Amino acid sequence: MTAPAVLPRHVAIIMDGNGRWAEHRHRPRAMGHRAGQKAVRATVRACRERGIVALTLFAFSSENWRRPQDEVGALMELFLRALDSEVDELHDNGVRLRFIGALEAFAPALRERMRAAMQHTAGNDALLLNVAVNYGGRWDIARAARALAERVARGNLDAAVIDEQLVAGQLCLADLPPPDLLIRTGGEHRISNFLLWQLAYAELYFTDTLWPDFDAAALDDALAAYAGRERRYGLTGAQSRARA
Ligand code: FPP
Repeated sequence: MTAPAVLPRHVAIIMDGNGRWAEHRHRPRAMGHRAGQKAVRATVRACRERGIVALTLFAFSSENWRRPQDEVGALMELFLRALDSEVDELHDNGVRLRFIGALEAFAPALRERMRAAMQHTAGNDALLLNVAVNYGGRWDIARAARALAERVARGNLDAAVIDEQLVAGQLCLADLPPPDLLIRTGGEHRISNFLLWQLAYAELYFTDTLWPDFDAAALDDALAAYAGRERRYGLTGAQSRARA
């Protein structure tokens, strides 16, 4: 393993291409999602080994409910089984698991397993693994706006002081540095309503690799591309190099 000079602290991934991976093999899409679970396992391990602080995975978007019922059912079944089979190993490897999104939409049994997994792993710090389920970036921002509006309505907050920092503090992952690197597999070049606010300055990396084929070597390619980027945050190249 070659460690790139500059490592992102927080990596976010849109795991796309499970369906096509299965279709190329003339197999049901659900099989692609099962193969995707293996890629999740390999990626979590590789991130932990490389010293990445946080990994945020887009596992199920607010829009994914519109997929055929049998595919949604297969994904829910997969999440349930993954929670049963993976959590102990994640815990043994020091991974802290957190789910972000509108969790209330899920069946009580699944919600209870998510809650138990978060509680079980809450004391770990080798890698913070955030799994976004029934998540949408616009939902996240609307929820933050509502929380602030409620404080204003209760008389606990002056609307005139609402600024970017106050909004950011109400969003999912407010306690983490924002993602430095967004990886999207599967060939599309879109953000698809993922962490819209939090990705404002992330470096974007798109690969044609389908998610089930993503592995430690593919992660290293993304990390090497990231290490070669110049992050300027709106400054000129000379200014940002002077501050580095
Ligand atoms: C996108 O591929 C993938 C999903 C909607 C589901 C992601 C789920 C997993 C990787 C399963 C395991 C996850 C965890 C956290 C245990 P797609 O179906 O949109 O693929 P396509 O674009 O080829 O149709």
